[in-house]
Amino acid sequence: MILGIESSCDESALSLFDPAQGFLGEWVRSQIKSHADYGGVVPDLAVSEHLANFTPLLDLVRRKYEMPGRVSRIAVTCGPGLIGCLGIGLSVAKTLGLLWGIPVQGVNHLRGHAFSPFMGLDLTDDRRWEDLLPHLGLLVSGGNTLLFRMDNEREIEVLAKTVDDAVGEALDKGGKLLGIAYPGGAELERKARGGDDRAFPFPRAFPARNEMKFSFSGLKTSLLYTLQKMEEEEIENRYADLCASYQSAAIDHLVNKSRQVLRTEQFKSFGLSGGVANNKVLRSKLEELSNDEGVDFLAAEMRHTGDNASMIAYAAEVDQNNLWSNQNDQLSFKPSLRLDECGRVSN
Ligand SMILES: [Fe+2]
Repeated sequence: MILGIESSCDESALSLFDPAQGFLGEWVRSQIKSHADYGGVVPDLAVSEHLANFTPLLDLVRRKYEMPGRVSRIAVTCGPGLIGCLGIGLSVAKTLGLLWGIPVQGVNHLRGHAFSPFMGLDLTDDRRWEDLLPHLGLLVSGGNTLLFRMDNEREIEVLAKTVDDAVGEALDKGGKLLGIAYPGGAELERKARGGDDRAFPFPRAFPARNEMKFSFSGLKTSLLYTLQKMEEEEIENRYADLCASYQSAAIDHLVNKSRQVLRTEQFKSFGLSGGVANNKVLRSKLEELSNDEGVDFLAAEMRHTGDNASMIAYAAEVDQNNLWSNQNDQLSFKPSLRLDECGRVSN
């Protein structure tokens, strides 16, 4: 059994994963409310929240499962993320590993997201991997916007990424311009319901097939200029149209680029992961795209779209060649770790 630990940003999370039985339990303490007043994640505050959260979280796990009991290893996020936050998770993991005499392995948080659409698969059935690889993945969050290929050996190659804002950041910033409190993305989606998503012609960047990159900064600027030209009453009257048009421009950009890549080679499945994957409009548009292109659509479950420890424990099982070792107590944090940057030695 694997104990997963996640602390890279503003979620303190633990998970117990048994490869033969599946997920036995997951425990999360979100810090969103603590950071909301500041309009974004405050690193020092996040560190002190993690510090306060992990002992009670471990206590909750201990009340349900004997610890260490059948736990045979610990998987902990070692990057990317906020330095102090990563440090708290690593300290918890290394201390428990020493006390319990079991290995600690570092997991690339982005690879956790990348594998999260597969978490519902039966690991004992190897056929399923063959049926779904090569796989095209879209990872969308507040810090990342990436398209990647996962080959038959489950190795990952980045095909396209954003040159400026991540899509989650763009949705939050657009929300802020529209008077929505941080984090604005989810509320923007609610306000967009019933609005005309073609009412305002916001730009979609890099439409050409050979431009394998994303950009969202022009979209945000376009919304700013549009709002500056409108009277307050007009903004009020057309509020749902503004929200729907803005959200639609961001989603269209993701869908268009995904379609272009899906047509370049024979993928067997298309996956969606990361915090923005909980946007229902995006999920349904990508499912439609997958059906049109004849590939299986795999979206991370809603509870596994944001940062969570289950995806870290899961990656420690299905991505074993790419873990970071704690041999000789050498495991440390890697704040700017990239999706295609892997550890090679596991213990
Ligand atoms: Fe994340």
